[in-house]
Amino acid sequence: MNKRMNRSLVIAVICLVLSAGATADPRTVNEGVFTRDQAKAGEELYKENCLLCHDKKYFRPVLKRWEGQPLGIMYTVMSTSMPESNPGFLSEKEYVDILAYILSLSRYEPGDTELDYKDGALNEITVEARQKN
Ligand code: HEC
Repeated sequence: MNKRMNRSLVIAVICLVLSAGATADPRTVNEGVFTRDQAKAGEELYKENCLLCHDKKYFRPVLKRWEGQPLGIMYTVMSTSMPESNPGFLSEKEYVDILAYILSLSRYEPGDTELDYKDGALNEITVEARQKN
């Protein structure tokens, strides 16, 4: 294969990867992105690890500030810097359960599938103001 063909092949593959990312079903936090049980599990972890410094009202203005951003950014911030006394102390699953609980605190509706941190799934979910039904 000559050099030129090689390069166009590489570009084609990159385009394919990018378009696959773009079509992956974008959702918002209003679309039932966590389960009730998951938020329950998160509540226990939250009481043990976060409540000491953040009361339950703390996250409402935080979520408000994150509106329009992917949930993955907020997840990364909390999983790498919290708890302040011991950053990164919990597992990814535990952080994502806590995030589900934080969403439930702001009265976002639960759904049928758990919030998942894998494969950048959290970056496909956008934070937006709660929609009242
Ligand atoms: C020892 C105290 C302490 C503990 C425990 C703690 N935090 Fe924090 N947290 C802070 C401080 C201090 C800040 C930064 C100042 C602020 O914004 O209030 C902060 C900020 C944050 C933010 C950033 C908010 C923003 O501005 O976007 C998030 C999210 C957060 N904490 C989540 C958590 C979670 C989840 C836990 C439990 C796993 C936790 N924190 C435990 C002290 C703590």
